[in-house]
Amino acid sequence: MLNIIIFGSPGAGKGTQAELIVLEYKLTHLSSGEILRRESQNSEFGNKIKKYQNAGKLVPNDLVIKMVNEEIKKNLLGAGFVFDGYPRNIKQAKALDKIFKDKEKTIDLVLNLHLSEREAIQRIIVRSHTSGRSDDNLKTIENRFLAYRTQTTPLLKYYRTQKKVITVDGRLTITAISKQIKKILDTYKN
Ligand code: AP5
Ligand code: MG
Repeated sequence: MLNIIIFGSPGAGKGTQAELIVLEYKLTHLSSGEILRRESQNSEFGNKIKKYQNAGKLVPNDLVIKMVNEEIKKNLLGAGFVFDGYPRNIKQAKALDKIFKDKEKTIDLVLNLHLSEREAIQRIIVRSHTSGRSDDNLKTIENRFLAYRTQTTPLLKYYRTQKKVITVDGRLTITAISKQIKKILDTYKN
């Protein structure tokens, strides 16, 4: 069992690296952003979710935590999880600790993809031509970074206290980052 959080700003490469990890280690990719985009299409909360995502604001905790916990419960028999974009604030981190404690699991590692805001924004702008994501526009991107700086980065301290954070240089190529991550994760395999 291996449970990882991929941590980083919008556009840091969380989704990209999460997919590569999943291919290599057969873990369950749990992206709260993807879950919310899917639910925004077909759930009774669809319009509410869209409103927050399009504004670049965090969707309310009760909704996100409930949806993520359901996904966790569905995949408990797998080889572990790669959390991508979750948790996003202290409340969510505590909710994750709680369900993991109940299920006798632990977060092994937080991989912190680090790069400048300028570089990350550039990547999102490039992606905006093909992503179809309604939040990939400059105004919303600004708010996504604001939410990241104010609500999400305090989590680094939370996980550093638990000695779980390893920072990876997010400016490198996708392949170079993936190699570094593999090196790290191979030391965690049992
Ligand atoms: P979410 O979907 O999580 O988006 P995000 O955090 O803004 O991050 P992105 O998906 O834009 O970037 P990424 O780090 O995955 O990078 P990627 O691999 O795509 O959240 C969206 C919204 O949903 C939030 O604003 C919020 O409203 C809501 N939400 C989600 N989770 C929530 C939660 N827990 N609580 C409350 N609300 C929540 O890479 C970006 C681009 O760069 C791609 O084109 C990629 O090909 C390219 N790229 C990747 N790596 C590299 C590299 N090394 N070099 C060059 N290019 C690269
Ligand atoms: Mg993503």
